[in-house]
Amino acid sequence: MIIRTEEELEALKTIGRIVAITMQEMVGAVKPGMTTGQLDAIGGQVLSLYHAKSAPQITCDFPGVTCICVNDEVAHGIPGDRIIEKGDTINIDVSAELDGFFADHGMMVMVPPVDDTAKRLCNCSKRALERAISVAVKGNYIANIGKVVEEEAKKAGFTTVKNLYGHGVGRTLHDSPDAIPNYFNRSDHRILPKGVVLAIEPFVSEKDRAVIEQKDGWTLKTPHRSRVAQYEHTIVVRDGAPLILTKC
Ligand code: CO
Ligand code: CO
Repeated sequence: MIIRTEEELEALKTIGRIVAITMQEMVGAVKPGMTTGQLDAIGGQVLSLYHAKSAPQITCDFPGVTCICVNDEVAHGIPGDRIIEKGDTINIDVSAELDGFFADHGMMVMVPPVDDTAKRLCNCSKRALERAISVAVKGNYIANIGKVVEEEAKKAGFTTVKNLYGHGVGRTLHDSPDAIPNYFNRSDHRILPKGVVLAIEPFVSEKDRAVIEQKDGWTLKTPHRSRVAQYEHTIVVRDGAPLILTKC
């Protein structure tokens, strides 16, 4: 969506803050021995405290409140009885709705002790998101987001997942513009307008360049067990530095 009024901006700031607080509570709660279902329940409690609803639940009947992925699970992981173990890398993706406005936010949690590659992978994805946000400025090409994400991944000896995308967000979870690639697409000439709300989410992978849906109909995994790190923020494009909505 494109923000046209102060009221819309305020509503998005509110849901952005709720999503950020939910994430903070979940990240702080991660410990080995707990299940992903228990972690998800914490997210559910925080969202309901603020009267917000799980976006994946209301949008596509997702069987959880948040998406939780472990190691080579990449996206849309269903929280359940899987036990979090030492050495795991966990991706938490929280998206929620309040009063008809949506925000979307993803983060990695490393459960110590993790190996060096996992640390580098998570840091690389975080850096890629920071750089992607820095180029999400009015008048710039959407393609330049994928360009810097791909550059950061390559610099660290990694690659990106080609069939997972960032997206517009706001009045719906997946809003216009659709498909913000995590690679450089030179034939994409779309330009960022002022006020557009984006969920930018670089998926940096150890090796595999695509994900495959599992038999549960939700979980996306890499074919050769590459681990993938994703960080995601909901932002508003402006003349200068973007406004990050999913920060506490
Ligand atoms: Co997300
Ligand atoms: Co998203």
